[in-house]
Formats: sequence, C-alpha cells, structure tokens
Amino acid sequence: MKNMLLVSSAFALGMAATTAQAEPQAEVLHWWTSGGEAAAVKVLMEEFEANGGTWTDMPVAGGGGDAAMTALRARVLSGNAPTAVQLKGPSIQEWYEEGALGSIQDVAEAENWDELLPEAIQYHLKCDGEYCAAPVNIHRIDWIWSNASILEDAGIEPPKTWDEFNAAAEKLQGMGILPLAHGGQAWQDATLFEAVVVGLGGPEFYRDALVDLDQDALTSETMVQVFDQMRTLRGYVDDNFSGRDWNLATAMVINGEAAFQIMGDWAKGEFIAAGKEPGEDFYCSSPSRGAYLYNVDSFAFFNVDGDDRQAGQQLLAKLTMGKNFQKVFNLNKGSIPARLDVSMDEFEFCGRQSNAELGDAIENGSLLPSYAHGMALRGAQAGAVTDVVTAHFNSDMSSEDAVAQLSQAVAASQ
Ligand code: GAL
Repeated sequence: MKNMLLVSSAFALGMAATTAQAEPQAEVLHWWTSGGEAAAVKVLMEEFEANGGTWTDMPVAGGGGDAAMTALRARVLSGNAPTAVQLKGPSIQEWYEEGALGSIQDVAEAENWDELLPEAIQYHLKCDGEYCAAPVNIHRIDWIWSNASILEDAGIEPPKTWDEFNAAAEKLQGMGILPLAHGGQAWQDATLFEAVVVGLGGPEFYRDALVDLDQDALTSETMVQVFDQMRTLRGYVDDNFSGRDWNLATAMVINGEAAFQIMGDWAKGEFIAAGKEPGEDFYCSSPSRGAYLYNVDSFAFFNVDGDDRQAGQQLLAKLTMGKNFQKVFNLNKGSIPARLDVSMDEFEFCGRQSNAELGDAIENGSLLPSYAHGMALRGAQAGAVTDVVTAHFNSDMSSEDAVAQLSQAVAASQ
C-alpha cells in the first residue's frame, strides 16, 4: 500500500507539474510475438509514439507467457523493473503484495473506467480498490477452430459438444485426416483440459474444481471422465506434437494439415493475419454449452523512477483504454474489446459471437475465469494442476491415478 500511495501521489504531482516537459518513455514487456499478436501490439506502439512517447519493446517469446514471467522476475529482483508488463489475473495481486506495483487510479478516474468496463472483470484490475492494471481485451479460451473445406468435404458440422467432437474426429481419422493440431507444451495441455472440464462438467463443476479447488469435485467421477476425454484427445494428435508452438498448430489448420485446434481466440488472430475469413475458410465453435472461459490481458505498471517513465505509464494506461485502440488492437488480436462502448460492427462473425455469448454468460452466471491462462488461481495452485494434467497427457497414466495425483498436488499447494 505504501508503495502504491507514493507512486500514486508522484503521478498526481507529475501530471500537474512535469508531464509537459517529461517525454514519456515505456519499456514494455510482453509475449506477443506471433503474426497476429505482433500486428496487435504494433497498434499500441504506434499510438504511443504518435503521442510523443518512446517505446522500448521487450518481447519474450513463448506462448502463454511462462518465459516472459521468468524474465520479469529476474528484472524485478535486480531492481530494474520494466515500465509496463503484460500481466493478468491473480498474478497482478501477487506482484502488488510484493510492493512492486504502482496505482493508475488517477487515469482510471479521469477516464471513467468504472463506467466503461464490465463489472465482472474490474476486480482483476484493482489492487486494494485502486486500478493497478489497464485492460486491452477479453479473450475467450474455449473455442474449437476448424478448417472449413476439410469439414465440408467430410460432411461435418463444427462440433458443439465433446461427443460431437469425438464423432467428427473418428470420422476424419477414418478418412486419413489428422483431427487435432496440438502443441505439446504444458500450458496448451492445460488449455485443452479446462475446455473439457467446462464442457463435460458444466459451469458449476468448473468453478468448484478449478476456481475453488474443492476436493469433492477434484476427486469426482466427472473428473475421471474429464481425464478419459483427455486420453481420447491424445489419440487425435500427431506424433510430432511435443513442444510445438501454438501458432504452428494453428498454421496446420490454416494449411489443411489438420481439421481442428482447441485454443483461445488469439488463434483467430493467426487466421486473420493469413487473410482467412471466418465462415468461408475457417469456423469457430465452442464445446462449452453456453459457458464462457475468459482471460483479460492487461498492462500492469511497476514502480519506476523518473518523470519520463512515470509519464510513460500514464500515457500508456490512457491509450490502452482508448476507444479506437480497443477496436483496432482487438481486430488484430482475435479478442474483443474490454470497453463496453466499442461498436462490434467491424468485427467478423466469431468476434460478434464472442461478444454476444459473453453477455449471455454474464447474465446466466456462467462467465468463468480461465485457470490455464492465469485468471482463476494463484501461480502455485495453477502450477500444481497443470503438472498433473501434462503428466497424464504425456504418459499412459490412468484417469483414476490422475485424479488421485490431482487431489494430492492441489492439497500440497495450499
Ligand atoms: C495468452 C494471452 C494471449 C496470447 C496467448 C498465447 O495467455 O492471454 O494474449 O498471447 O497467451 O501466447
């Protein structure tokens, strides 16, 4: 809190007295390095520079951000935190508790963020009631992306349940077509897993198991079925999946080497960057039966010295929530704006579907934070779940053993 107050008042003074002279600087740590991601972050870089700022890019490649988070820790430990960092969910609070984050409440109040953001996501962005992170988007995780011409040739509709998915995959396998493009990295295994948990168990089960870590849910028969489905999915993947980056898996669907990928809608950013049209070249469907797994990317602002860097934080926070920025960034990124007042007219079919289903999920209580993308659990707990998920996926472990290990790993992490 102390740090936050200091930074907050430094900001207040800085805004009034020094921003006119200080040239905004920002060193920005992120992991947006694929085609669609890089196109999206370039929008912010250009806006920042058009507004007089100097942007120092610090991309750390590696889907899901594990490598970026390791780089961040090293920088903070050496007393040289970046100005702005792509962070999300409980890790924002974890950094705040370490005294590393500053407040951007002044900007948030001046720009009316409380009015502009869905209430359901505001708490992720606040530290002790004050904004400490600025959101860029809302990603949906639980999507199935499919190659349209493969599905048409095979007479298959985009699957909307795991049973439909399995039936489609069996049919495709019978035709000699690879059903599922997957990258064997722990966070990608976790991405499949959470989509299976919500699709088979429903929103309440998801919440019990992966938000509340309730032992009854973790050891239930439903969880055994979830691991059975993970084993089934493992059978639809090619032999070379191990270590493959997510965007290379997306490219397999784009190029017709595989029918499906199960991935958050940053994958749509890759289809769009490749000039593909939803409904024509690819389809999107969700196996979650009305539930919606979300992830909000945001920038958190670390305590830094210097008027120029603090002015950079203020400018970046303001631009990040800008109406035009939220539109253009998300058209490239595959996600939808976090701001409620951005028109969806220019978004394609899957973006509009995401937006509509987000509204429905908020209304019917089935909007769920993604565990695989750092929105539901603290790092230690999420890591405990993922270790078991990935060990099971990459071995012949039985579903019963996986459930027993899950229960123990979660208990030990708490
Ligand atoms: C997610 C992140 C997305 C995207 C993806 C792949 O965790 O929220 O913005 O970058 O990882 O790296």
